[in-house]
Order: sequence, then C-alpha cells, then structure tokens
Amino acid sequence: MQTKTVRDYIRTIVDFPHEGILFRDVTTLFADPRGMRLAVDQLLDPYVGQRIDKVVGLEARGFILGGAIAHQLSIGFVPIRKKGKLPGAVISEDYQLEYGEAVVEIHHDAIEAGEKVLMVDDLLATGGTAAAGIRLVERLGGEIVGCAFIVDLPDLGGRRKLEELGYDIHALCRFDGA
Ligand code: PRP
Ligand code: MG
Repeated sequence: MQTKTVRDYIRTIVDFPHEGILFRDVTTLFADPRGMRLAVDQLLDPYVGQRIDKVVGLEARGFILGGAIAHQLSIGFVPIRKKGKLPGAVISEDYQLEYGEAVVEIHHDAIEAGEKVLMVDDLLATGGTAAAGIRLVERLGGEIVGCAFIVDLPDLGGRRKLEELGYDIHALCRFDGA
C-alpha cells in the first residue's frame, strides 16, 4: 500500500459555495493526526535554517496552520483578518473577489520593521488575498521570506502573479482545471 500524501487527505466538495465550484476541503487533512503533522512539516521544509521572526496567517484556515507552525518554530503568530474583526488599531488593504471587493486588516503594531515573515494560508487561487496580505506586512516594514500554501490552483494564476512580483511560493499540492 502506498503512503498517503497531503493531497490524498483533501476532500473535494462539488458545487460549494456555488454551482460549478469544486471546493478543496482541507478539514479532512487537519482532522487526521498524520495528515496534520505531514502538512505542517512539509510547509516548513524549504525554510529550515532560514531566519523567520513571525508567522502571519490569513483568515481563516491560515490561522490553524500558522498557529501550528509558529508553535513548531517557537516564534510569534500574527493574524490577518477580514475587515472589522481585529480589536485594536489596524491598517487595511482592498482586494478583488470574483464579484466585488473585500478588505483585510492587520494590527498596526503586529510586525516590527525588519522582521522576517512567513505567510501561510490553506489555498492559493487568484492570489488576491495573499497579495493584499503581503502589502500589509510590507507596509509595516516586514520582509516576506516566503508564502506557503497547502493547495495551489494554478489555472487561477495566483502563483504566477506572485512569482512575477518576486515572491517565493511554496505549495504542497496542486489541482489543475480548478
Ligand atoms: C479562500 C482561501 C484563501 C483565498 C484564496 O478564503 O482560504 O484564503 O480564498 O483565494 P485567492 O487566491 O483568489 O485570493 P476565503 O476568502 O474563501 O475565506 P475564508 O478562508 O475565511 O473561508
Ligand atoms: Mg481563506
């Protein structure tokens, strides 16, 4: 029997949240003790030996991964949240959704200038969310060491867009034709 990969633990839900969408559900990966460990270890693998000062997680599943990674590295975790959720003073960035715009925020004092930041989320699609997150970190003076995702949907162009901007993108698996 072949050993399961991270991709094998991901469940696909048909027609969620809209008809025609194949939703790549990582909760089945997170729920499995081997799957969760495998995902966290593989997300960190390229960065072993590099200086990282903070992990930044994108709402919502980036919180789960980012918390585990920060714990593993014994460093701090910083959330980037959707508009209106963070209690302190924030800075904001807009980004495009399929229909309309959204806003993400970070506490204005969450990152110190010069800190090396690893950004984490479950999935990279158009790259709009990650690009907005990167802008927030950089406005605070942080330096993005890399962006790590469980899933890349390459047909939606996010990886290409972020790599063209010069960012290091690490994804554990891909689903084509998404
Ligand atoms: C999903 C996913 C990523 C983002 C990727 O989150 O978890 O964060 O979309 O899409 P993009 O690359 O096109 O920006 P979603 O906005 O659905 O919200 P949630 O994580 O809070 O459920
Ligand atoms: Mg998300």
